[in-house]
Amino acid sequence: MLGFSSKQNASSVEGIPEGADDLTPPAHVAIIMDGNGRWAQSRGLPRIAGHKRGLNSVRKVTREAKALGIRYLTLFAFSTENWLRPREEVHGLMDLFRFYMRRECKTLVAEGVRIRFIGDPSQMPKDIQDLMVEAEALTSDGDTMTLVVALNYGSRAEITRAAARLSQKVANGEIEPADVTEEAISAELTTSGIPDPDLILRTSGEQRLSNFLLWQAAYTEFLFVDCHWPEFDEESLRQSVIAYNTRDRRFGGVRQKA
Ligand code: FPP
Repeated sequence: MLGFSSKQNASSVEGIPEGADDLTPPAHVAIIMDGNGRWAQSRGLPRIAGHKRGLNSVRKVTREAKALGIRYLTLFAFSTENWLRPREEVHGLMDLFRFYMRRECKTLVAEGVRIRFIGDPSQMPKDIQDLMVEAEALTSDGDTMTLVVALNYGSRAEITRAAARLSQKVANGEIEPADVTEEAISAELTTSGIPDPDLILRTSGEQRLSNFLLWQAAYTEFLFVDCHWPEFDEESLRQSVIAYNTRDRRFGGVRQKA
């Protein structure tokens, strides 16, 4: 597990060559932004203060991802299980999403960043659903990077919905059972058209996937970082991309000798 802080430089990560300036950016980085609550509680603050501070990291990391040449950045903002949190925290998070969508769209448009949402929007408050549609439309010309925000996202539910839709198509005689291929399942997921993540990062030291991109993560590299999300910044992302560059991805095959 990497425990880097923003103060460290590239050569201080074990096993990474110095002068790693010619980085190959992963095309798609997905992040489980964990540790907001602990960051706040350790400072005697309410949990929502951690989420608010986490929004600063969202801004920093979005800008840096674009600068590094990452084409897709996915952020796990709210899971299907997060409704179980105290009412006050859920309301605070919803207000934060409203604030973000109302305030940040102009910046995203100026930076050429397109926003897209994954998950099941139907359970979100109606005004947030409207803001989501608006944000996708406003930023739809963005072609430097796609920011994918997972809102009310749960991977098992997403796969289950895809299976149900394909079964219905078979029952209707629209497709044959043999048409239920990996591509057909991928096309029914809310991530349809988005390449699978090359790197999934989780902050706060926890090492689990928490129902995030289970299907899409078949060959993803994982990186668990020891700092809480509000402490994660531009340099942390750069360090993560450097660490990714040391990985030997074989996709089940063997390494070809040069
Ligand atoms: C997990 O930390 C974090 C969340 C459930 C919310 C993440 C949301 C934001 C950073 C707000 C803004 C996001 C966008 C994209 C607009 P936790 O609360 O589970 O932390 P803990 O494990 O320490 O309790």
